[in-house]
Amino acid sequence: MYEFIVNMPKAELHLHLEGSINSTTLIKLAKRNNSEFPYQTTEEIENALANRPPGLQGFLDHHYERVLVLQKQLDFFETTYELVKTCKVNNIKYLELFFDPQFHTARGISFDDIIMGIDEGRKKGFLDFGVEVNLIMCINRERTISSGFEMLEQAKPHKDKIIGLGLDSYEENNPPHKYTDVYAQAKKEGYRLTAHCDVDMKNSTRNIWECLEILDVERIDHGINSIEDPKLVQELVRRKICLTTCPIKRPCDPQPQDIDRIREMVNLGLCVTLNTDDPPEFETGYLSNLLYLVQQASHYSKNDMVQFMRNAFDGSWLQMDAKNKYIEALLEYAESHGVN
Ligand code: HPA
Ligand code: ZN
Repeated sequence: MYEFIVNMPKAELHLHLEGSINSTTLIKLAKRNNSEFPYQTTEEIENALANRPPGLQGFLDHHYERVLVLQKQLDFFETTYELVKTCKVNNIKYLELFFDPQFHTARGISFDDIIMGIDEGRKKGFLDFGVEVNLIMCINRERTISSGFEMLEQAKPHKDKIIGLGLDSYEENNPPHKYTDVYAQAKKEGYRLTAHCDVDMKNSTRNIWECLEILDVERIDHGINSIEDPKLVQELVRRKICLTTCPIKRPCDPQPQDIDRIREMVNLGLCVTLNTDDPPEFETGYLSNLLYLVQQASHYSKNDMVQFMRNAFDGSWLQMDAKNKYIEALLEYAESHGVN
């Protein structure tokens, strides 16, 4: 089973560039940039990671400490290229990659430097490793609406490099409707739309409804609490909304989180995908490992695992011909392993 999963052609739709930097690279960048990064050694980083408080707040507070090491265009280039290389190792053929421009521009880094570095990294990554990457810029939802509009303005000259708009970061007290006008403008400009509705937030199901009815998103990131509302499930199925779940695992977790609820989502007919979110920041790590842990814990069949991956290609924002090409390769792989 492990080999079947490792060698399966894959797609991932929920991975943050800023959450993909391993501790060795963090130390390297911190030294190079003389940054205010608070850790001196990889051990110190791993310690802080293991001891962060649970929940989204605890995760994000530590996450943003790490991201401070990204300062120059070269840093964005190198980290993107390194991530694409790791995708190749995981046999990921296609990645939709989140990045958080506002966190960087607020520290005085230009939008141009950020996007040029990332774009060069993915282009060189494609040439060297054959992994295709599309970019999704996220609004940090705790920031102001005008800062969201400013990001859209800064992105205008780079529209050809960015496929979509997302919404991430501190969800509590920052409901999706706060960004109604920014999303409407982004849609007008031709961006594809998605938004995080993280697990077990105060108003999780209401937030998912707002994403559908007000922001008009095509996907929901996480969205696990949807199963609490049968009408919402019905609407997500009717609209063929893809939910990018991230069954991550902390050292204290015996199994990846939420696997029972993910099983229920599948049973309810929702289009569910499995993703890593911020791979080196969780024990689940990169996609092959996460898929194997989920498969083992939930006893999914090879057929089920192929279906998860088919959902990812289906729910992606690839052009139809590219989508079909990848799905054909996936089904060929399945068939050659006796899975129909
Ligand atoms: N949720 C919200 N914001 C984030 C995440 C996440 O999982 N990862 C990086 N920023
Ligand atoms: Zn995320």
